[in-house]
Amino acid sequence: MNKTNTLYEGKAKIVYETDEPDKLIVYFKDDATAGNGEKKGTIQNKGIINNEMSAFFFKLLKDHEIKSHFIDKLSDREMVVQKLNMIALEVIVRNVAAGSLAKRLGLPEGTPLKTPVLEYCYKNDELGDPLLNRYHIMVLDLASVNELDEIEHISFCVNQVMINLLKAKNIRLIDFKLEFGRDEKGGIVLADEISPDNCRFWDMTTNEKLDKDRFRRDLGGVEEAYQEILKRVTA
Ligand code: ADP
Ligand code: TMP
Repeated sequence: MNKTNTLYEGKAKIVYETDEPDKLIVYFKDDATAGNGEKKGTIQNKGIINNEMSAFFFKLLKDHEIKSHFIDKLSDREMVVQKLNMIALEVIVRNVAAGSLAKRLGLPEGTPLKTPVLEYCYKNDELGDPLLNRYHIMVLDLASVNELDEIEHISFCVNQVMINLLKAKNIRLIDFKLEFGRDEKGGIVLADEISPDNCRFWDMTTNEKLDKDRFRRDLGGVEEAYQEILKRVTA
């Protein structure tokens, strides 16, 4: 398989079309942004780590009959994926209050939530990815009610599979963000990545943050945290 042209260059990845029209190659960069692009930097080897961790989680999900766009890992920074028509939503699942939810609801970070909380954001950089509810999604014509039901079902299944795996590694899954697309038949498919960039992982004993919050909040030890979480997740 060969890359043909660049379909899209985002903040963390480059997406290439290939000589197989239904397949894309995703290249994971070391570039890191936070606060809707206000903070910019690089995290050494992040691309390699995020590619490897995403491949690991997508394979794990497949073993649990949750399909994703993942086809194969091509190199240390590249994976082959199914080309999808992306839905402009960020789907966030939370088990513990942190980040924007902690601020919005006035809950101390680290407060366990009685039930997992699912939120939608509009994937729109110009608007700063605002929070949406199902009515907003209908008005914007982003997805149908049936599609949202499917997206929510898959998201909660992903949460359970990840919680179970991570518990055995003494890691708390605080929250994560997923993206979905439609295949050629209109079916909903999990896409994008599952990595320390879009998940919060805390050590269960010490509450040490092993994810992108170390970069977002200038906590130091960013590269080391990415290495550590990859090692523990995939061990
Ligand atoms: P951003 O767009 O937020 O800057 P990235 O740098 O991660 O994000 O770029 C990757 C882009 O590829 C995202 O816009 C994402 O929605 C898109 N994408 C992810 N998986 C697929 C897929 N299977 N088919 C088409 N586009 C995808
Ligand atoms: P938040 O608490 O900042 O809203 O983030 C919730 C989760 O979603 C957290 O795991 C980080 C992830 N996330 C992204 O992957 N991309 C984003 O643009 C944002 C805002 C959050």
